[in-house]
Order: sequence, then structure tokens, then C-alpha cells
Amino acid sequence: MEEFIKEIPKAELHLHIEGTFEPELMFEIASRNDIDLDYKNIEELKKAYNFSNLQEFLDIYYAGCNVLINEADFYDMTMAYLKKAKEQNILHTEIMFDPQTHTDRGISFETVINGIHKALADAEAKLGITSKLIMSFLRHLPEKAAFETLEQAKPFKKWIDAVGLDSSELGHPPSKFERVFQKAKEEGYLVVAHAGEEGPPEYITEALELLQVDRIDHGNRSLEDINVVNNLVERKMALTVCPLSNLKLQVVKDLKKHPLKKMLDKGLFVTINSDDPAYFSGYLNENYIEIQKALDLSKENIIQLADNSFKASFLSETEKNKMLEKLKEFTN
Ligand code: ADE
Ligand code: ZN
Repeated sequence: MEEFIKEIPKAELHLHIEGTFEPELMFEIASRNDIDLDYKNIEELKKAYNFSNLQEFLDIYYAGCNVLINEADFYDMTMAYLKKAKEQNILHTEIMFDPQTHTDRGISFETVINGIHKALADAEAKLGITSKLIMSFLRHLPEKAAFETLEQAKPFKKWIDAVGLDSSELGHPPSKFERVFQKAKEEGYLVVAHAGEEGPPEYITEALELLQVDRIDHGNRSLEDINVVNNLVERKMALTVCPLSNLKLQVVKDLKKHPLKKMLDKGLFVTINSDDPAYFSGYLNENYIEIQKALDLSKENIIQLADNSFKASFLSETEKNKMLEKLKEFTN
């Protein structure tokens, strides 16, 4: 089964590029930028990766970003992930980046997006991995700041496919961002939002009804309200579920208690993703492998999850069909 999971062609749809920043590369970039980290060495840093909730993780994740200064830093971080993705038989990836994490430190929007975009373009040319880019607004900041970010993105719009909503969920409902999402939609962006990771099912309803999202990131807590489940099923709304993230952030106490199988059984359109793999001890294949073992998922479940990953992507129908064809060839 492990070999089957490693080799099956798949797409990744929920991945924060800043969450792929491995300690080894972090120390290397800190050194070349002459920045001191709060930790003496890699071992000490890794010891801090022990989180009891989302906020504890976010504090460390944002601190790690402080060493990213130059375009080359963003390029190297992005390319390291894309090489990993290639090894894991990921044909297509849709990555999020958090511009405000960098612009608030005085790094220009242009520096950030140039580095990420160049890596995505090189990976397509040299590794054959296709991608989409999602610009996420930090929900702990005011809506006004998200409007400013949307404005800064204008010259680079051709490189950005969607906008998203991430960071501290509790106390920052989707309704706080209704106007900026409406503007983003008017400008032609697709939209996604984290909802129902730590936040209640009402946040999922707000993301659907007020933000008019094209996909929900996480959505685990939909199971607490049958009306929300029915609404998601009726809309065939994709959910990007992240098992190891849920375990490490204590959204679930044990992978055996993870809701993924229940979600599949209820007809929800779920996909598996890695979220912040450098912090949660596993990239996409490790997420598939661990959840398969914990929930005793069948080969058919795995094929369905890979199939969902392409169908829930923002690729064109033609591109989706090409990748689904590769999946079929592999499973036949
Ligand atoms: N930013 C990076 N990872 C995140 C997560 N799992 N939830 C919310 N914001 C995030
Ligand atoms: Zn996420």
C-alpha cells in the first residue's frame, strides 16, 4: 500500500509555501543574510515544533519567515518544495503565500512574488510540475490591510490565480472579509478560505454564503452540523483536509479519530493535503500513508482521493482530463 500511495499521481491543493521552510534551509538563509535565529541550532529549533493549538504554531511559523529577505530566498524555499513534490509524484500543486507576513517587515511585494513565481516557472519547465498561486490574506489583521494587499497585487495579477484567508481563525470570521473578497471576485480571482479548522461550522457557512468561495480549506468541523454537511454536498464543494496538520495542532488528539473517513462516507468532496509540511513531520505522501494506516482506508479510497485532488483543482477541464488520464493509466 505504501508503494502504491507513493507512486499514484496526485495534486496538492492546500500548501503554505512558508510552511515548507525546512530548518536546514532556514539556518542557511539566516547565515547568508546575517540574521540571528532565536535557536542555537537545528535540533533546538525542531524541539520547539511542539504545538497545542494553531496560534502556538503560527507564532513560530511567522518568526521563521523573518530570515526571508531577498528574491533568491523566496526562490530557494519554493524550489526546495517543488523538488520534493516531484519526488512524491505530485503532478500539480496549488500553493498559498502570505504577502503580509513579508510586506509588514519591509520586504516588497515584488521581491516575494518574483522569487516564488520564478521557481514555479522553472519547475514547470524543468520538472514538468504545473501550479497555481493563491494569495492569502492574514485574518488577524484588519480588512483594510487585505484591501491594500489586493492593490499591491495588481501589477502581478497574471501570476495569481486565487485569493485565500488564513492565520488565526477563532475570533476572525469570514464575514470580516466580505467586502475585500467581493472586490477580489470582481477582479477575476477565484477564492478560497480556511474555515472549520478550529472555528465553528458557522464559519464554513459564512465562507460559502458571504465569501462565495470556490473551495474550503480544512472544513473538518462541518460534521458538527448536518445542515452544513448537506449544503457542502449539494454544492459539490471541495474541502482540502490536512491530516498531519490536524494531529500536530491538536485539532484531533489521535489520527484514528480523524474525521476523513466519515467525511468520505457522507459524500463530501474531500482531498488530502500537507498544509505546512516542514512543521508537521510530513509532506503529501506521508499524509496519505499515515491517514491510510490510521483509518484503514482501502485502495479504492486512495484512488478516489487522488481523483478528487485533480477534480477539485483550478486547472482547466482539458488539463484536468489529461491528469485524470494519467491516474487511470496508473490504476489500470
Ligand atoms: N497559515 C499556515 N498554516 C495555517 C493553518 N493551518 N491554518 C491557518 N493559517 C495557516
Ligand atoms: Zn492551511
